[in-house]
Amino acid sequence: MSLPTDQFAIPATQKAWRIHRRGTPATALVLDENLPVPTPAKGEVLVKVQAAALNPIGYKLMRQLPNFLAKRPHVAEHDFAGIVVNENGTEFHKGDPVFGCILYQQQTKTRQGSLAEYVTLPAEHLALRPANITPTQAAGVPLVTLTAYQALFEFAKLEPGQSLFVNGGSTSVGAAAIQLAKSIGCKVTTTTSSRNEEFVKSLGADVVIDYTKESPYKVLERDPPTPKFHAILEAVGNIDIPLYTHCEAYLAPGGIFVSVGPQPSRIGEVPSFLAYAFSAGLHPAWLGGTKRKWRNLFVKNKHEDLQRIADLISEGKFKPVVDSVYSFQDILKAYERIMSKRATGKVIVEVEPGTD
Ligand SMILES: NC(=O)c1ccc[n+]([C@@H]2O[C@H](COP(=O)([O-])OP(=O)(O)OC[C@H]3O[C@@H](n4cnc5c(N)ncnc54)[C@H](OP(=O)(O)O)[C@@H]3O)[C@@H](O)[C@H]2O)c1
Repeated sequence: MSLPTDQFAIPATQKAWRIHRRGTPATALVLDENLPVPTPAKGEVLVKVQAAALNPIGYKLMRQLPNFLAKRPHVAEHDFAGIVVNENGTEFHKGDPVFGCILYQQQTKTRQGSLAEYVTLPAEHLALRPANITPTQAAGVPLVTLTAYQALFEFAKLEPGQSLFVNGGSTSVGAAAIQLAKSIGCKVTTTTSSRNEEFVKSLGADVVIDYTKESPYKVLERDPPTPKFHAILEAVGNIDIPLYTHCEAYLAPGGIFVSVGPQPSRIGEVPSFLAYAFSAGLHPAWLGGTKRKWRNLFVKNKHEDLQRIADLISEGKFKPVVDSVYSFQDILKAYERIMSKRATGKVIVEVEPGTD
């Protein structure tokens, strides 16, 4: 890709939204206008960010932990799409369109995040952006799609023809999981509210349960699938314990229940969550608990997974879903949208004005 020469001129400083203190986005975020542009270390590249995406973990982390434990201040958010401006001896080239994410561990180590004009990160945390999607679409792909990919193919070892239940098919993780499962010919049952029923069907969901009418576990217990699900992905994050404790009725023996939660929104909620979990019957099988495997998933940066996702996009088998796009200045409106928990698809922030 050729760019005007001035696109590669690297300024000394940049603008970035940084988390300075614990709180809501309105109290935690500060627009730093003179943050030094980082220099890539060996094996890293410097990327000019075009668009970034918000994730629930972004605002959840803002309200957790005191500054010294959370290593603040640091730039907010994780996902981005951009252009390589210093390939630094890696396999990338100047001008390559890329996408990737700076996950929490890397963020606290480097104090970097995606709501900045420039980021450095290891080359293996990036993939070339497929030519059939825009930077705005690509920015929302990495974190949620890696999560769904790792849940389905690393944890559940899903195979063609098997059946999957996704709790929360209209969450971004759930929407990615439906598309990934359909790409290998699996049958997908999912939950959503009626307003998103057509949306999840358009992604390929075969059976849709309206979670607002009746608890999904009751529907599934009354009318279990034949054969039972090979795997369940809990993609809402507000852990639904009865969905697990009743799952012997609808999850096959040897099947797995993968959860992207619990992520209690405050550290103080952990003891009450544990008390609730135990009283609801969430204890090991050897204590008389549910005889199905439960695993919590924490997404990891894996180049081969991101590359496979990029390939599926190039092949037209996976389509990114964008809910809305906000300007860099309108960051609080963007957070308002994701914190409504009603976004259908990714909430995107244009870091470079005028990005497609
Ligand atoms: N562990 C990890 O590594 C990891 C990684 C990524 C995400 N997560 C977690 O995964 C969760 C989902 O994240 P996301 O970015 O995919 O969320 P999101 O896109 O912001 O989810 C918004 C959607 O959630 C749906 N929804 C809300 N409550 C629901 C319910 N009770 N049942 C079914 N659908 C519901 C809404 O649809 P309706 O209006 O139709 O209800 C809305 O479309 C979050 O808790 C996030 O922190 C964890």
